[in-house]
Amino acid sequence: MDFYPWLKALHVLLAIVAVGFNMTYGIWQARAGRDPQHMGYALRGIKFMDDKVANPAYVGLAVVGVILVLIGPYDFENLWVIVSIGLYVLLVVIGLALYSPVLKRQIASYEARGAQTDEFAALSTRSRLLGAVLGVIVITIIVLMVVKPGV
Ligand code: HEM
Repeated sequence: MDFYPWLKALHVLLAIVAVGFNMTYGIWQARAGRDPQHMGYALRGIKFMDDKVANPAYVGLAVVGVILVLIGPYDFENLWVIVSIGLYVLLVVIGLALYSPVLKRQIASYEARGAQTDEFAALSTRSRLLGAVLGVIVITIIVLMVVKPGV
């Protein structure tokens, strides 16, 4: 039995979950921005979804992706695979080193002084900006995976 298409289906499912969850973070923050007493609940919800669902799905994506390359018709010399892996590493570095700490500081700032401070506004702008950068990287990876330029 050929496992390749089944593994690829799992890979796509993980991509839907990871990227789908990520896309809701902006919606939660925008809604809580209009209703600041719910900001803490929204931010802690985002952190929960990120830690427990989206990030594990990204780990699974890389593991299944590497297996697909090892057992399938592509290899680690294909340009789209090389660039995607590079972008994936960049995604993880920005996510762990920049985005996650900002989200933690946003929660701490909200819990200490509320949502109406300059500090909280600056942290929110920063997390929105980082979210947009991560979004561009993830969309580029998806386009590379689907279009496979150079193959
Ligand atoms: C280390 C990272 C990754 C590797 C090595 C990898 C590798 C692969 C491989 C080998 C395929 C199968 C291509 C085919 O048979 O058509 C694939 C498909 C796909 N990958 Fe990845 N992947 C990685 C990360 C990601 C990420 C982070 C996303 C999304 C955010 C993603 C989204 C997709 C999608 C949507 C497809 C389906 C493409 C198609 O059927 O044409 N992958 N990936």
